[in-house]
Amino acid sequence: MALFILLSLLAACVAAQYKGAFDASSQLRSRQYTNASSTNATTYTNPILNANGADPWVIRYNDYYYMTYTTTNNITLLRSRVLTDWNDAETRLIFNPPEGQNYSTNLWAPELHQIGNNWYVIFTADPRSDSPPPEVDMLCDSSCPAVHHRMYVLEGLGDDPWEATYTYKAQLDTFDQFAIDGTYFQHATGLYHIYSCWVRAYDGWPANLCITRMENAWTVASNFSQRQILSVPSSDWEKTPYGRRLNDRLATNEGPQQLTNPATGQTFVIYSGGRSDNRNYCLGQLELVGDDPMNVGDWRKRTDGCVFYQNAREEAYGVGHASFTTSPDGSEDWIVYHGMRNPTNGWFARTIRTQRFGWNDDGSPRFPRPGYGPYDVPSGQSGLSA
Ligand SMILES: *[C@@H]1O[C@H](CO)[C@@H](O)[C@H](O)[C@H]1NC(C)=O
Ligand SMILES: *[C@@H]1O[C@H](CO)[C@@H](O)[C@H](O)[C@H]1NC(C)=O
Ligand SMILES: *[C@@H]1O[C@H](CO)[C@@H](O)[C@H](O)[C@H]1NC(C)=O
Ligand SMILES: *[C@@H]1O[C@H](CO)[C@@H](O)[C@H](O)[C@H]1NC(C)=O
Ligand SMILES: *[C@@H]1O[C@H](CO)[C@@H](O)[C@H](O)[C@H]1NC(C)=O
Repeated sequence: MALFILLSLLAACVAAQYKGAFDASSQLRSRQYTNASSTNATTYTNPILNANGADPWVIRYNDYYYMTYTTTNNITLLRSRVLTDWNDAETRLIFNPPEGQNYSTNLWAPELHQIGNNWYVIFTADPRSDSPPPEVDMLCDSSCPAVHHRMYVLEGLGDDPWEATYTYKAQLDTFDQFAIDGTYFQHATGLYHIYSCWVRAYDGWPANLCITRMENAWTVASNFSQRQILSVPSSDWEKTPYGRRLNDRLATNEGPQQLTNPATGQTFVIYSGGRSDNRNYCLGQLELVGDDPMNVGDWRKRTDGCVFYQNAREEAYGVGHASFTTSPDGSEDWIVYHGMRNPTNGWFARTIRTQRFGWNDDGSPRFPRPGYGPYDVPSGQSGLSA
């Protein structure tokens, strides 16, 4: 019995080693009423939710912002008329996974996309909380607790993301290999799945970015030899610790997000590099400079460093896993991301923040330095209530 408990504890430690495990009970302690922006406030401060939270994803649709983020046990959707205060937001449980499935635990990084006439939630999950059985674990070259993480899709029919009933639709084919943080990439040539991947089934590290072509929102069309690796964490800032030479353990590319410059039409994938429990976690940039997303040569990676990164002067560390939206009047671009004030407390320190960003002369996004504000509320927000 004692041995069993010891082994269980060990398993829990190994699980926490990978990525997502963190204090779920402190999640969703919403409805601690503050009047930050539910009145006519003209400024706001970060974080925008008084609870731990990671991997935020926000979309604006028909006068509402919708947010979802990693709660680990389920998928919860929040709705608010304002971007900068989610404490009074309505919340709705949209998926509670059944037990005993490959997608029953560690639900991470959900995203809500409108594709065609319906809504799709794409998310990461695994079967047993990052604890592969010994006969799988032994195949790994280095520790690989996340070996069974895969991508899954829920479908909500109709055009109302709040009223829709979300049901389990499918697993996305990643060739029975590690896949997390998958996103949809929409392009004139079709729909694509971009996700964090390993090169081989039992690699462990590094975590790269892969792309496959999709037939529809729940079916991958590419076969394994057509899958392409768009980015590997080869720069110093993508390694942990910074510049590590010895091996690729903890070197990561994850959290990819499509971002289109509304003025020039340039298409970017902004992703997270480094390590999610670490102060160096930051955002990197790929730009699609050709016509074919499946052609690796059509992508240009920015190799000179992160495009959004820690700001020690303001105690804003580990800033990453972003998504993008606009102000209520559509005139401004906003980034929603997680970060931590305490750089040593790892995943347990992450909270959700937002800031306005602009564009550089070359059409690439110009992100601000991360901080806590106060900042001006998004254009068109003042006067709205949550
Ligand atoms: C969803 O999961 C979170 C985090 O574990 C939990 O706090 C919340 O109560 C769950 N929601 C429901 C409706 O069960
Ligand atoms: C929020 O505003 C209302 C109305 O102005 C006020 O009665 C209430 O005390 C405020 N609550 C907080 C937490 O500031
Ligand atoms: C906010 O501004 C609107 C329009 O100026 C006004 O009608 C409303 O009473 C104000 N609300 C609060 C809580 O001050
Ligand atoms: C669950 O995952 C394992 C390992 O990837 C796989 O062999 C098995 O077929 C999956 N089960 C289902 C029902 O898809
Ligand atoms: C993948 O699909 C391409 C195009 O249809 C085909 O040429 C290739 O043989 C396939 N590869 C595998 C491993 O099935």
